[in-house]
Amino acid sequence: MKRFATLLLMFTLFAPGAALAQGITEEPIGNLAQLMRGLMFPNANKLFDVQAVEPGGELPEMTPEIRDAVSALMGSTSSRFAAIYRGWPEVEGAAVALADGAKLAMMEGRLCDNGLPAPVDRADYIEGARLLEESAVNVLRGAQEQDYEAVWDAINYVNDSCTHCHKTYRDGPDSRQEPRCQ
Ligand code: HEC
Repeated sequence: MKRFATLLLMFTLFAPGAALAQGITEEPIGNLAQLMRGLMFPNANKLFDVQAVEPGGELPEMTPEIRDAVSALMGSTSSRFAAIYRGWPEVEGAAVALADGAKLAMMEGRLCDNGLPAPVDRADYIEGARLLEESAVNVLRGAQEQDYEAVWDAINYVNDSCTHCHKTYRDGPDSRQEPRCQ
């Protein structure tokens, strides 16, 4: 009987319905521009910074003036924790965010800022997402091996993947007015 009860409990816990009942929503929450601002932009910037400064070097001395200036710019919590994952762990984190972010850009139902559907069924958009995932995975692998040269090179391909989508679906002759996502 006890065994049966255990089985029953396991069935209830792991049945697909149980997961769905308490699961997260399956629809995208934000539009594509918000996803770009929240995820692609800050994490790509971290990687572009890595091309300028090798991860894991010495931090500059934090004088009170510098701390105040950084706080004013970023906010006190962000500035206090800015260096907590500094170095290779931060590179790995940014690479994972971008690689998995590529999947979020491909979600069915995602709209662009102008209300048009994100072009998730267009071959060049899909290729842009694939290039982002592939290049970010290469950054991740290089970061895990702490191979600065490999990471530096892979970041160029991350940049290319952004451009691959943007040249068609974001930046026109007048990128502010250009009908995006078509
Ligand atoms: C799969 C295609 C695709 C990839 C890959 C992609 N983007 Fe985008 N991005 C878009 C599209 C389409 C828009 C326009 C979205 C809109 O207007 O809703 C956009 C818009 C943006 C914006 C402007 C958001 C705003 O405020 O209007 C930024 C910033 C941005 N992308 C950054 C990046 C960076 C950095 C990368 C590379 C790491 C990247 N994107 C990769 C398709 C892509």
